[in-house]
Amino acid sequence: MKLEQQYRIIDFKDMGDERGNLVVIEGEQMDIPFDIKRVFYIYGSDDTVVRGQHANRETEFLMVNVGGSNKVRLNNGSETAVVELNRPGMGLYLSPMVWKEMYDFSPDSVLLVLCSRHYDGKEYIRDFEEYLREIRGKGF
Ligand code: TYD
Repeated sequence: MKLEQQYRIIDFKDMGDERGNLVVIEGEQMDIPFDIKRVFYIYGSDDTVVRGQHANRETEFLMVNVGGSNKVRLNNGSETAVVELNRPGMGLYLSPMVWKEMYDFSPDSVLLVLCSRHYDGKEYIRDFEEYLREIRGKGF
């Protein structure tokens, strides 16, 4: 499968007015195709840290940096892409089975991650060689 079919940049509607900004993300709507089952956020990482380095067999993700910026490197075993998340109104949607690394976090970075599934460590692939074996086995 082409990497460009496995992720998508989404611009959320800004309902802001003179009082400030308000960004809305609704599950199962145009914004994100899945029902939101889990939310986590990462802050206090810096530009020396690489997080992620895993793929998920089942979970879809939507990442938004609501405070600052970070980069996400995507790899599907044959192609790579780098996405910089640097606006609270910008989301990165990720299909399952994409290898991801989050890095280059700014001091004010707060990376919000919305997920289609509850946490299950068994659906994480944390070994890149194992990831390559699985995607080849699935004919990706
Ligand atoms: P980890 O997957 O290494 O974080 P990242 O994707 O940012 O590199 O998760 C760190 C720890 O937190 C690990 O022990 C698993 C646990 N964890 C949960 O229990 N629930 C969750 O939803 C997440 C994302 C992690």
